[in-house]
Amino acid sequence: MDKNTVIGIIGAGTMGTGIAQIASTFNHEVILYDAYPDQLDSSRSGLEKILNRQIEKERMTREQVDGILERITFTNELSSVKPCGFVIEAIVEDLEVKKNVFSNIEKFVDRDAVLASNTSSLSIASISSALNYPNRFLGVHFFNPAPLMKLVEIIPGISTEENITAATRSLIDSWEKVTVAAKDTPGFIVNRVARPFYGEALRIYEEGIADPATIDWAMKELGGFRMGPFELMDLIGHDVNYKVTESVFKEFYYDPRFKPSFAQKRLVEAGRLGKKSGIGFYDYRDGAGAPEP
Ligand code: NAI
Repeated sequence: MDKNTVIGIIGAGTMGTGIAQIASTFNHEVILYDAYPDQLDSSRSGLEKILNRQIEKERMTREQVDGILERITFTNELSSVKPCGFVIEAIVEDLEVKKNVFSNIEKFVDRDAVLASNTSSLSIASISSALNYPNRFLGVHFFNPAPLMKLVEIIPGISTEENITAATRSLIDSWEKVTVAAKDTPGFIVNRVARPFYGEALRIYEEGIADPATIDWAMKELGGFRMGPFELMDLIGHDVNYKVTESVFKEFYYDPRFKPSFAQKRLVEAGRLGKKSGIGFYDYRDGAGAPEP
């Protein structure tokens, strides 16, 4: 895979849009697919907003921004992935939905196209079971916000060929990311470490020991973390974060260390998904965010 490889991205949400921005910045032609036209509109307008801010800050020229946007084709036709040599999926964290999408992608792409999932917690082996050629499939896990976060986990599955893993690593390296290989285990490296970080913060809150703003403040000001756990969950999205916890909990045979939180479940049920819906643990609707305690 090289600069001429057309990159397919499935899911134009938070992660898919960010990965599209990266690939296009590195001069790839990008096909960004989503099943929902509204989501494609908000992906495009969100990306325009982010890039225009780069012009205001004199980090990019209008020409560069126009180039990035022009190289991305926003589509709700899955068959548009046909010319792609590398396809990465970033849709809802649901095994059956992902498997269904992958078996459809395989109908359109060439036999030598590499297929990847940005899943945070599902097993690469289980997603690959939907494919006719699981040897060309692996996990490629970006972090949020994808254009800013350097680390990308590369997760070969039980059937992944070594040359597929190597080619994928060198493609992602060419996007100036730092790759780390991880085994196909629940949460891989970072999400495995992060589960107790969120889980204990939620338990401290649920037990009435401290409120979210106090916990975030203590972790940032005194713990040396760039963001507190509640701010971070609000940024990730509680729907996504809760599903990942549920999935890791299940995959570890219901180990109580990974038990999901009722407080977070209620946020999801109420549609308080965090920054993306305007309110989560904090209220962002008036341009505010995490208050100081
Ligand atoms: P999101 O909810 O922002 O976006 C998901 C997108 O997929 C939406 O645009 C939705 O319309 C689309 N979609 C849903 N079902 C679809 C289908 N059947 N066909 C086509 N499109 C469909 O989710 P987000 O946050 O971008 O997460 C996507 C994936 O990336 C998940 O697997 C998640 O676990 C993983 N991830 C998320 C991170 C985060 O911080 N949000 C970080 C790293 C990985």
